[in-house]
Amino acid sequence: MMQGYRAQLLRFGADGTALYETDGLLVVDRGADGVARVVDAGSYGAVAARHPDLAVTHWPGRIIAPGFVDMHVHYPQTDIIGAPADGLLPWLANYTFPAESRFADPAHAAEVARFFLDELARHGVTTALAFSTSHPCSVDALFTEAQRRRLRLITGKVLQDRHSPEGVRDETEQSLIDSEALLTRWHGQGRLGYAITPRFAPSCSEAQLTGAGELARRYPDVWIQSHVAENRDEVRWVRELFPKARSYLSVYDDFHLLRPRAVYAHCIHLDAQDRALMHATRTAAAVSPTSNLFLGSGFFDYGAAQQAQMLHGLASDVGGGTSFSPFHTMLAAYYVGREGHTKPGLSLTPGELWWNHTGGAARALGLEGVIGTLAVGSEADFIVLNPAATPLLARKSARASNLDELLFGLIVLGDDRAIERTVIA
Ligand code: GUN
Ligand code: ZN
Repeated sequence: MMQGYRAQLLRFGADGTALYETDGLLVVDRGADGVARVVDAGSYGAVAARHPDLAVTHWPGRIIAPGFVDMHVHYPQTDIIGAPADGLLPWLANYTFPAESRFADPAHAAEVARFFLDELARHGVTTALAFSTSHPCSVDALFTEAQRRRLRLITGKVLQDRHSPEGVRDETEQSLIDSEALLTRWHGQGRLGYAITPRFAPSCSEAQLTGAGELARRYPDVWIQSHVAENRDEVRWVRELFPKARSYLSVYDDFHLLRPRAVYAHCIHLDAQDRALMHATRTAAAVSPTSNLFLGSGFFDYGAAQQAQMLHGLASDVGGGTSFSPFHTMLAAYYVGREGHTKPGLSLTPGELWWNHTGGAARALGLEGVIGTLAVGSEADFIVLNPAATPLLARKSARASNLDELLFGLIVLGDDRAIERTVIA
């Protein structure tokens, strides 16, 4: 049955243009597959006139907006947010691997998966591309819980057969067998998707990377996710391990792991040739500013990425990242944008920041037209924002004289308190 939702309405055009109605109406209807999609949207007057008998829920003073898309997050790192370390490699050794080793226990994995998905919903995140751990049961746990909630969610078994301690290290041949079994079981079930997940080049033998590339060739519509060029010590290590490769990124190219729906976290220490390769292969960058600031990894160069027309979008990278909140991530991206931008002194606009965490992220994931914009025909994953959720936010929102000012107020002052509801399909 068709259902209408009336409030302020924020949507995006396919080119990233923000579309805003002060009195809007979103009309959704459930398809034969059980997924609700947008069938009409626009100003209340015009849209209501086209649907005279529509049941309408009215949320006065609220804003309906596309659910946020988190392009890179580690659900097993939920409990290690805020673990201090000198940098990436000691952080992995001292906190990450010990925490992830606990996911050999399916009960622990299930408990964290539930908490993690509750947390995404509280923060208005409706789709994530998430790392699980190297334990197959960690993947089953997250998919099972996501399926129960009818989420569009992508994850995969982490591949790490070397330079990894007992407890998280896997075995080359078995890791590929397990990956394929999980892929076959889950990819395309409801709205779930599988991602082939080599942790990063230093943790994968050449045989494992070769196997990952072969798996990717046999399943052209699954995702690939990994990390690249995050930290200077890591980059140096990769140069030692792969002396024949032109660059860190080109290691993945050599193993046929760059393509549409391949998503690489960080992409900080790239050069112009790397960026051209990202663009040529339609590989996407997941940009995680809170993580990069917390671990001291560096600054993503937005100017160079835009110039190279690299697909990119925003990500929390919890637990390197410090927050599940898309508002915190967008604000950090704004700060970082000042460091690397074609127009010195300027950063990303509120509309660009918001696009990078919704429709732009969806596009980078190869899910253009499916989620992230509330365009007609797309899936009805949306949030209801309260722009007066705190006393200060209420003052700020009341004084906004245009959309940019309203969005900027939310980006700077917003958090989970501004997310009044999260509606899944
Ligand atoms: N590189 C390899 N593994 C990880 C991880 O878990 N987090 C981050 N930030 N970088 C990584
Ligand atoms: Zn990561």
